[in-house]
Amino acid sequence: MKRIFSGVQPTGNLHLGNYLGAIRNFARLQDDYECIYCVVDMHAITVWQDPAALKANTREVTATFLAAGVDPAKHIIFNQSQVPAHAELAWIFNCVARLGWLNRMTQFKEKAGKHRENASAGLYVYPVLMAADILLYKATHVPVGEDQKQHLELTRDVAQKFNNDFGREVFPIVEPLIFGEATRVMSLRDGSKKMSKSDPSDYSRITMTDGPDEIAQKIRKAKTDPLPLPETVEGFDGRPEAANLITIYAALADITPEAVLGEYGGQQFSDFKKALTDMAVEKLGPVGQEMQRLMADPAHVDGILKDGAERAEALARPILAEIYDVVGFLNVR
Ligand code: AMP
Ligand code: TRP
Repeated sequence: MKRIFSGVQPTGNLHLGNYLGAIRNFARLQDDYECIYCVVDMHAITVWQDPAALKANTREVTATFLAAGVDPAKHIIFNQSQVPAHAELAWIFNCVARLGWLNRMTQFKEKAGKHRENASAGLYVYPVLMAADILLYKATHVPVGEDQKQHLELTRDVAQKFNNDFGREVFPIVEPLIFGEATRVMSLRDGSKKMSKSDPSDYSRITMTDGPDEIAQKIRKAKTDPLPLPETVEGFDGRPEAANLITIYAALADITPEAVLGEYGGQQFSDFKKALTDMAVEKLGPVGQEMQRLMADPAHVDGILKDGAERAEALARPILAEIYDVVGFLNVR
C-alpha cells in the first residue's frame, strides 16, 4: 500500500486552518494509505519554545489527530524527537541540499523577518529536516496545506539529487496531497494574511479548543465588507474576507462554495455569520470536546506516542541502514 507521511508542529494555538487544510484530511486518507503522522517537536524548536508549553502542545497535537479520527492501532502517531533517525538522515541531507535552494525558501524569509542574522541555523535548514521526515520512510504522498508546497518541492529536489549523485533509485519522488475547499484559510481579521498560530490577535483565528461562545464572538467580529454576499464565486474577486468566510463554510459543510452561494448569495453578512457560527460549532464542537477528554489523560496520550515511536523506529532503521550503505558509511554493527 502507498505510504503517507505528514507532520504538525506543536507550537500551540492549533486552528481551523490546521484542521481543514491538513488534520481532517489525515483522517480521510486512512482507508487508502498506510499513514504515519508526526508531531514535529524538532521543527518547533527552530524558534524559541517554552519547554513546559512544548510538552503540553505535543500532547495537544496528538489529541487533535486522535479526535479528528486517526486510528492509532492501524496507523502510526508519534513525536519526531523520539525517533533519532530523523536527525541522522537530516545530516546527510544537509550535505545534499544546496545553499541556493534554501535561500529561495519563502517561509524562512517570512519567519526570520528583518533580523535574519539572528535566526537560528535550525530555522534555515528546517526544510531539510522535513525532507528527512518524509524520505526516512520512503513515503510517496504528503497531505499538507498549500503553504507547504515549496518545502515539498525541496524534498523532491533532495530525493532526485541523492538518487542522481549515487546512481541508485533509493528515494521515491513524493506527491503533495493538497485537497479540500480550505487549503489556505485566511485570517479572520485580514483576508490577505493566512490564518496562523503566531498572529498576535486571538481574533484572527478559531482554535480547536474554542467553545461555542468564543466561536460566535470571533465570527461576529470577523472582518467583512459592506456589500451583501456575492451571487457567484466570480464575485470573490477583490473581496478576500467574503471569499474566506464562504470557503470556510463550504469546507465545514463539505459542499462547494457555489452551493453555499446558492443558499446565501445576495444575503447580508450578519445572517450568514449566524449560519457560519452554527456550522462551526456543530462541526468543531465534538472535536474540541474529544480533545479535552484526551488531554485530561496524559498517560494515555503518552502511551500512544510511545507505541507509535517504536513502530516508526522499526520502519526507519532498515531504511537508514540502506542509506548509510549507499552513502558509503561502513556499517559495522
Ligand atoms: P503547522 O502549524 O505550520 O505545523 O502546519 C500544520 C499543517 O497545517 C500543515 O499541513 C499546513 O500546511 C497546514 N496549515 C497551516 N496553516 C494553514 C492555513 N491557514 N490554511 C490551511 N492549512 C494550513
Ligand atoms: N513544515 C510543516 C508545517 O509547518 C510541518 C512538517 C514537518 C511536515 N515535517 C513534515 C509536513 C513532513 C509534512 C511532512 O506545516
